[in-house]
Amino acid sequence: MRNIVQIIRNKRDGKTLTRDDIKFFIHGCTTGKIPSYQIAALLMTIYYQGMTFDETAHLMRAMMLSGSTMDLSGIRAPKIDKHSTGGVGDKVSLILAPLVASCGVCVPMISGRGLGHTGGTLDKLESIPGFNTQLSSKRITKQLQRIGVVMIGQTREIAPADKLLYALRDVTATVDSIPLIAASIMSKKLAEDLNGLVLDVKYGTGAFMRDHGAAKELAWTMVQIGKRARVKVTAMLTDMNNPLGTYVGNALEAMEAIEALKGNGSQDLMDITYALGAEMLALARIKGGRTLLVNKITSGAALDVFKKIICAQDGDALVCEDYSRLPIAKNKASVRSHASGFVHSIDTYRIGMLLVQLGGGRMKEDDTIDPSCGFRVFKKIGDRIKTGEALVEIYSDNRIAREAVKKKMKEVFAVKSQPFRKKKLIREILS
Ligand code: URA
Repeated sequence: MRNIVQIIRNKRDGKTLTRDDIKFFIHGCTTGKIPSYQIAALLMTIYYQGMTFDETAHLMRAMMLSGSTMDLSGIRAPKIDKHSTGGVGDKVSLILAPLVASCGVCVPMISGRGLGHTGGTLDKLESIPGFNTQLSSKRITKQLQRIGVVMIGQTREIAPADKLLYALRDVTATVDSIPLIAASIMSKKLAEDLNGLVLDVKYGTGAFMRDHGAAKELAWTMVQIGKRARVKVTAMLTDMNNPLGTYVGNALEAMEAIEALKGNGSQDLMDITYALGAEMLALARIKGGRTLLVNKITSGAALDVFKKIICAQDGDALVCEDYSRLPIAKNKASVRSHASGFVHSIDTYRIGMLLVQLGGGRMKEDDTIDPSCGFRVFKKIGDRIKTGEALVEIYSDNRIAREAVKKKMKEVFAVKSQPFRKKKLIREILS
């Protein structure tokens, strides 16, 4: 007879857990038979001892099977999704989902909310008045059949074990464990009945993984998990030492995504979007790559799909023509450089946390957020700047918060006199 104390002891002593041990553990979590102090103890031993690849794959599968999986067998188009490990200013999903769907790919995109310094796609979408990210299974399938794309949140039925474990990891300092992150992300993504998945694994000051080596290990683990589940997975390792694009903050990023769909996206944002999109097309075996994607932006086809998504999900699609319908703060304050020279570093994590301080992000899952606040970022690493030039513009209708954040924002940028070379945005692609 298996028991959880023995499983914890085995892991503590460096032994390898079997598939049945892991199934027993996950079953015990979701049925409430294992109390949270024993779950937390096992999570901490995993944090310190790590997991073999087999253990990680067993954990992912048990978590995926802890709930129901989507059945999209009635849809003939290739089903491909994208997932980002999270960053600051990362609004790529808002552009990518309609863009790739306009090329004939079915995109059942399930996204998350922002937590800590990282933003979340759902919060950005919900800044569009009326936008509904919680659809029934029937509505999801109907929308996928009709327009080929949905942008929704995780339902209660998908990977419930992950929800439970993530909440405990959050309060026991066990989030940043590669096997736990890989199993968590892949258990949700593989429940979507996908043919392929493209991962944007970020590293740098604004990412979960600061270090490129750790990000690569995470990417490799997720690619191998996909392979074992017979789902094609490609991972791109991308630099998150700068905020991505120009704006940070929910409604501001929704506006920026719409501008990108109109052909006015910044180079860094579009480079990542096109690179991820081309990988999604390749997994779907659709020819055309970046050229096709660029055509879908210039012809307006991608923007049309985005408007259809907004309408289908109860939102106000007129925001695409009239940004005053978005809840964007009316009051702004500029942060200016005290020195001339070149930007050598940006503490992008701090920018994410300053958004939380303004009210635009959350520290706990049930915190409410203010979608109207955020930042416009004028300078990135390597850019030249003169004394008095603006580094950042702060959007907030709360004067006290705006002034407090303004003081702290000055410390985020390191400006030095000697030139500094920009780093490559896309470092590696693993598949
Ligand atoms: N995102 C997830 O979905 N899970 C993790 O463990 C970390 C980031």
